[in-house]
Amino acid sequence: MLKKVLIAVVFSIALQFGYVSAADSSTISIIPKPVAMEVGEGCFVLTAKTKIIVSKETSDVGQFLAEKLSPATGYGLKVKKPGLFQSKKNTVILKINSKLSDLGDEGYKLTVSQKGILIEAPKAAGVFYGCQSLLQLLPPAIMSSQSVDGIEWSVPAVEITDKPRFQWRGLHMDVCRHYMPKEFVLKYIDLLALHKMNTLHWHLTEDQGWRIEIKKYPKLTEIGSKRKETIVGHGGSSRTFDGIEHSGFYTQQDVKEIVAYAKKRFITVVPEIEMPGHAQAAISAYPEYACTEGPFEVWTKWGVSDNVYCAGNEATYIFLENVLDEVLELFPSKFIHVGGDECPKTKWKKCPKCQAKIKQEGLHNEHELQSHLIKHFDKYLTSKGRRLIGWDEILEGGLAPGAAVMSWRGESGGIKAAKAGHDVTMAPNSHTYFDHYQGDPKSEPLAIGGFLPLKKVYSYDPIPEALTEEEAKHILGAQGQLWSEYIPTPEHMEYMAYPRGAALAEVVWSQKDARNWDDFVGRLATHLNRLDTYGVNFRVPEPAGLEQNRSFSKDMTVELKVPFAGARVRYTLDGTEPTEDSPVYTDPIKLTKNTVITARTFMANGKTSVAARGTYRKVTPKDPVKVDKTEPGVSYRYFEGSYKSVPDFSKLTPAKTGVQESFGIPGGGSGNFAVELAGYIKIPMFGLYTFYTTSDDGSRLWVAGELVVDNDGLHSSSEKSGQILLKPGLHPIKVGYFEAGGAKVLKVGYQGIGAKKKAVPANMLVH
Ligand code: ACM
Ligand code: ZN
Repeated sequence: MLKKVLIAVVFSIALQFGYVSAADSSTISIIPKPVAMEVGEGCFVLTAKTKIIVSKETSDVGQFLAEKLSPATGYGLKVKKPGLFQSKKNTVILKINSKLSDLGDEGYKLTVSQKGILIEAPKAAGVFYGCQSLLQLLPPAIMSSQSVDGIEWSVPAVEITDKPRFQWRGLHMDVCRHYMPKEFVLKYIDLLALHKMNTLHWHLTEDQGWRIEIKKYPKLTEIGSKRKETIVGHGGSSRTFDGIEHSGFYTQQDVKEIVAYAKKRFITVVPEIEMPGHAQAAISAYPEYACTEGPFEVWTKWGVSDNVYCAGNEATYIFLENVLDEVLELFPSKFIHVGGDECPKTKWKKCPKCQAKIKQEGLHNEHELQSHLIKHFDKYLTSKGRRLIGWDEILEGGLAPGAAVMSWRGESGGIKAAKAGHDVTMAPNSHTYFDHYQGDPKSEPLAIGGFLPLKKVYSYDPIPEALTEEEAKHILGAQGQLWSEYIPTPEHMEYMAYPRGAALAEVVWSQKDARNWDDFVGRLATHLNRLDTYGVNFRVPEPAGLEQNRSFSKDMTVELKVPFAGARVRYTLDGTEPTEDSPVYTDPIKLTKNTVITARTFMANGKTSVAARGTYRKVTPKDPVKVDKTEPGVSYRYFEGSYKSVPDFSKLTPAKTGVQESFGIPGGGSGNFAVELAGYIKIPMFGLYTFYTTSDDGSRLWVAGELVVDNDGLHSSSEKSGQILLKPGLHPIKVGYFEAGGAKVLKVGYQGIGAKKKAVPANMLVH
């Protein structure tokens, strides 16, 4: 009951914001964006008497739609075959129309008038996607699992013609590092369907756990599905274990249920059975298929285990064929994923069986042995009427012609494969690894690393620029990866998957030219209310509009963006985290002095975003200095030794001094060291100048005696910036830098008045 009241309150707030009142294209929020949409007059109102009219081919979809509409509306809508004198009034007609064959296997046409709704498509899948659009035309409360009072279930009059850009649209799910309950897999499938995705890539076997019942090899789950404990914290640096057993697997009955559930939603479940690497759980159960005797244990750490299948032993091939036989019985998917990634060859190099196999087959090395194994299973799967797909390592050492490639190490594997005539699914770790951070690691839950914000996902194009139009036809589509080392629960997986999954859905469904970030963010507002009502623990986007190290000379106003309707932004001006009691943002904030703005999004249900921070500095213009005599270039002082931050150079004795043209590491540097570079910069005209340093490790930059860029600390190559208001003439400029191992990088750039950002050129520098 409480939940029902809460939803009613949320939607009455939402109504005040005006975003559920239907009927112009700016309030219609379908994700992914349809190809074409025309908005008509008025709307259709769903009532308890509305009938869903189906044919033989659309009756399952009709049943699905009735079930989706029922909980929130409380209507038990009737699904019927058309009667002899069937009136179109107050009906939702689901119809196969072969005249619409231009829309392909998944396209549809949806027409809403004040009288009724017609969804027609050449295939049932299209009718299904038309129903998904219909659900998104209804108020977001339709996603509620309980009946919601006080809402008119109106659908704006529209005509939508729509079809997908790509045929492979999906998310991956790693259930091995952390087992995910069956109910969650089903919910994940429902969410895929809501986003018109059609593929679940289900990663079922790993070093850390085997999660699918194989009747012929019961120890795979008896032993292989249990690890005695799990490493705590970041796998790379941690030495601590939690001492808690982690286990779980899907029975064949579970798998059948999941596959059938997916099929009803036009989703193909592509199983991944990893070979020849990532196999430690399997060989813990059956050590006879490893190169050495064992014993092995299901791995308790993250990373890539050296303990792989023996590719020299005929028995391994038979074992894997037997496993695949049962997998093929369970999964009707044309594509079967065999992994193929990250297989260390250390054991094979020392294994007599593997070495004998290399000789016997006339192979040149262990890479060709891997290729031999993959080709074997390509042939095996082809003989069973299926197709092999694997991670891009399967290209190494040659690939069987029918096999498809999943490009994860950037785009290059995909490009190479498409050029060689292989079909490709794009899954690059640059744009589709949803296990990467989506915000500042300081305020996000522990992740594997990387940085993949929502906007970067949205910017992705699955067709690499390097491909010709003909080669691009091999790109089947793209998918997002949810590796679960650092994703221990379903709630956390939802947090990582959405809203990035919504952005990816638009990347793979919508036309490239129709994609527009601002428009997407506008529609996302309503879509997040939809997901919230459905109980999805998505990441709440933080308010947009804040800037770091922004300077101003007179007054300035800062405009924040409330990320979605029904949410509020609260902020502080004293650097503290906003709470429920902080002021609500309504109008642009006027600044007259140095200020830190900290803002968070608060949803009506109490969920909040992480804090976003902007720093603003009021600056007075700096006067130039008078210098009698100058020479070109900057002077440097080079200091040997180990530093953890930019040192106080005044206390140190340099090992070397000299002059060079511009900023950079004198002589390239060697070992651990620090450098001070100093001179004057010639400023051509009055204005606000932005300076940048990119460094590995830390750097600091002073102009006119002020610290403008603080990029200090031990870190890999990263850029920081800052601003200063300068009058024309000469201004002192100084850079401090240190190197403490790893790459040596120091670049100094600036952006002047009406000019592009570039490296500070030598002709601006004197000493
Ligand atoms: C992968 O991320 N190892 C495919
Ligand atoms: Zn071996």
